[in-house]
Amino acid sequence: MRVLVIGGGAREHAICKAVCDSGGELYSVMKNLNPGIKRLAKDYFIHNETDAEKVLEYALKKKIELAIIGPEAPEEAGVTNVLEENGIKVASPSKEAAEIETSKEFMRNLMEKYKIKGSVKCRVFSDAEMAKEFIEMLDGEVAVKPIGLTGGKGVKVAGDHFNSIEEAVKYAKEVIEKKIGGHSKVLIEEKVVGEEFTLQAFCDGNAIYPMPAVQDHKRLLPGDKGPNTGGMGSYSHKSGILPFMTPDDYEEAATILQKIVEALKKEGRQYKGVIYGQFMLTANGVKVIEINARFGDPEAMNVLPLLKTNYLEICMAMVEGNLSNKKISFENKSTVCKYVVPEGYGIKPVAGKEIKVNEEKIRENGGLLFYASVNEENGKIYTTTSRSLAIVGIAEEIEEAEKICEKCLQFVEGEHIFIRHDIGKKELIEKRIKHMEMLRG
Ligand code: AMP
Ligand code: GLY
Repeated sequence: MRVLVIGGGAREHAICKAVCDSGGELYSVMKNLNPGIKRLAKDYFIHNETDAEKVLEYALKKKIELAIIGPEAPEEAGVTNVLEENGIKVASPSKEAAEIETSKEFMRNLMEKYKIKGSVKCRVFSDAEMAKEFIEMLDGEVAVKPIGLTGGKGVKVAGDHFNSIEEAVKYAKEVIEKKIGGHSKVLIEEKVVGEEFTLQAFCDGNAIYPMPAVQDHKRLLPGDKGPNTGGMGSYSHKSGILPFMTPDDYEEAATILQKIVEALKKEGRQYKGVIYGQFMLTANGVKVIEINARFGDPEAMNVLPLLKTNYLEICMAMVEGNLSNKKISFENKSTVCKYVVPEGYGIKPVAGKEIKVNEEKIRENGGLLFYASVNEENGKIYTTTSRSLAIVGIAEEIEEAEKICEKCLQFVEGEHIFIRHDIGKKELIEKRIKHMEMLRG
């Protein structure tokens, strides 16, 4: 099957690998040349991924039978819609269905309208004075969020990014005035406390098939300090749930995703593709932080390498609406993924610095390597301002997977790189278990 993958990050490298491992002939549209995808692909087109007409032109020329979209921006730009209108199957949501991610206002309204459990107190404002009243009502314990896409970097939370009602109001005003996230509006949410986890699921418009849960680390610095980033690394456990969760928590999250998919269908926005829930496990159950219309990055790299079922068959089942008839399984293994990012990432990144990657040694030591945003020139790899590459270790237990990951990271050298080494380490995981025990009393 001739398959087009849109996007050129590490998540898309993992998707491309899954496509090739499933017997697909790979084509790619990406905005910068990912060295890993380049090697896997039969052909590629370096172009803006949100240019629906050009993506269509390329897909028609290459006689693409199935397209998979990695990032949210091309979905928002209607790439799915344009390809489908021209007879190309797409295993990703339409622009309308993807609004579950691209408008946080839409997501919260949908949850309210259909009385789906797991929402938080929240309101949208286009007037900073009115936002102030709500922030005061919540005693400043709020998250201040742009409505639209900001690449995971637009949200500010009390205690993490500001420490007073004044600062919260100031940022809310800035979001409205500067139209951060594309709208003159701001979403104010009650701050919820707990442990975050990601649940991704395959979806065919009706049924979902949830994958192993993953915990991402959005904060830049060890110990969950510093600004929010696109994600610094992630882990999963062979049980399919995380060490601080119970099977009931997992079920609760899966039920919320199922209800959202049903609500979208009722709204005439049938959802096909991978759906992603970012949840906070709190003393009062599972709360929705955000819903994404795609695989997570890094979370795709935790789950896709464990997939035992043919990935393209799952994609076709999502497209054709018969996921319930499909037997899907994952290897019962634990995974740890750590990103290598340029020094200063998330603040003032140092781009254009060489990274030496010994691919052979990484392979020999059992690690997986996924390239993200780097440039390759004359066989050398250089950083950009975004995340550079990710290493994944897989083993029975998280501890061993973490050791494999660290061992392989030794074969990525550069004077101007940064890694959050605490991800997947025993100390951090124990801290999370204790945190949850404390909250649950
Ligand atoms: P988002 O882009 O919505 O995922 O937000 C980025 C990060 O901000 C999340 O991963 C959470 O750590 C934090 N966050 C977002 N909303 C809330 C909330 N209502 N309460 C507490 N933390 C939040
Ligand atoms: N890992 C966060 C995201 O993909 O949005």
